[in-house]
Amino acid sequence: MSYVGLVGLGVMGENLALNIASRGFQVSVYNRTREKTERFVQRLPRGSAIVPTYSLEEFVSSLERPRRVILMVKAGRPVDDILDGLAPLLGEGDVVFDCGNSFFRDTERRQEWLARRGITFMGVGVSGGEEGALKGPSVMVGGAPSGFEESRAMWEAIAARVDNEPCAGYMGLRGAGHFVKMTHNGIEYALLQLIAESYDIMTRGLGMSVEDAAQVFREWRDSELGSYLLEITVDALSVVDEETGKPLVELVMDRAEQKGTGKWTSQTAMDVGVPVPNIDAAVSARIMSSLKEQRVNAARLYGGVRTRIEGDRRELLELLRPAYSLAAITSYAQGLALISEASREYGYGTKMLDVVKVWRGGCIIRAKLLHTIIGAYEREPGLVNILFDDEIAGLARELEPSLRELLRRVKTAHIPTPVMDAALNYITSLRRERLPAHVIQALRDRFGAHEYERVDKPGRFHSSWRPGS
Ligand code: 6PG
Repeated sequence: MSYVGLVGLGVMGENLALNIASRGFQVSVYNRTREKTERFVQRLPRGSAIVPTYSLEEFVSSLERPRRVILMVKAGRPVDDILDGLAPLLGEGDVVFDCGNSFFRDTERRQEWLARRGITFMGVGVSGGEEGALKGPSVMVGGAPSGFEESRAMWEAIAARVDNEPCAGYMGLRGAGHFVKMTHNGIEYALLQLIAESYDIMTRGLGMSVEDAAQVFREWRDSELGSYLLEITVDALSVVDEETGKPLVELVMDRAEQKGTGKWTSQTAMDVGVPVPNIDAAVSARIMSSLKEQRVNAARLYGGVRTRIEGDRRELLELLRPAYSLAAITSYAQGLALISEASREYGYGTKMLDVVKVWRGGCIIRAKLLHTIIGAYEREPGLVNILFDDEIAGLARELEPSLRELLRRVKTAHIPTPVMDAALNYITSLRRERLPAHVIQALRDRFGAHEYERVDKPGRFHSSWRPGS
């Protein structure tokens, strides 16, 4: 009998099955199309702990009880379709783990439905792409605590390890696992856009070659800014197209695609009432990039642009590095503030320290900075925003003038920097005791009698806001 079953043999599913089997857990696999399963098992070495099955009945009856089933299928309709087939075959005590990028509200709907049949449904965020799935992903488990405890040994065995701790953990009740993964992806969107903006400033803004830009990213990678995304940036920028001899990155169409997790982060942040402007800006930047035809037309209509930034290259590069650093810190700060507030509002009971520990290894947003953030949550587990931690506040204070000065200079050229701008506005707003929102309140009260509060006495007030009245 198999310890666990896995449905969905895309690359991620195959690699996760191989990873689980390599840790000594026998895995039954099933895929909707028989050929995919056949092709997969043909490539397996003799004696592999992977058992192919060709119907859901055969799949379910090959599993130990209580049964454990991992779904590795595309988010959305395919998850519901497979559950429709599986649910009648499963029963009391069985646990299903959805390891795709499902929307947390869908996960909560499925949890309620399956709970009525005695089936525990867990939403599991798995990050690290194909390579991570095979060699050690970051695993964010959410749902009933018993569902986690039941399978904890397996998640800990297959996950990446940092400081001898597994990057797999319990993120909280209900949809918390998928909520944390969604927000991870939102931060991923902001960081990717930030890297793209830095590249634009260096190449189009400062006239540097792709090779020289790669060298700057290499220095950042090897410093306290180091992260997985900077590692793969350095690699990617060094790839040359064989056909043309040009850097391959320059031949890629400038239209960024998306599957929805970044957009969900922004939408959810609006619902929860937490500002995540870096993420919002990154999502909008992807949408703007996709409007290629309109951009081509506008470029013609508005005429030539000057992308060259005036000033000394070395000086600008010295500003760019701290600017990048602060924009990255604020991206994590916004995402983490969202998780913390959502946990409070939705009653997830998420422990922020566990979130950042799980992100230390295996996932796409792993970075040295996470060690500093761990320190902040160790000092104050209930921190609402990491920017309130003394060490991080000290760092942010030190970096802010560079971000401000860099953007002042960049604005002399036609270089869009939506995430950097958002980061500066975020920190500038956060540290302002009084914002101009009083003007908005006055005007709302004028046209809609919405009332306002005063700074000098309690209560709600209404005024006519007409001169002389
Ligand atoms: C991960 C990635 C992974 C996937 C993103 C890409 O953590 O391993 O985040 O989940 O690459 O979903 O999202 P977009 O296609 O929307 O950029």
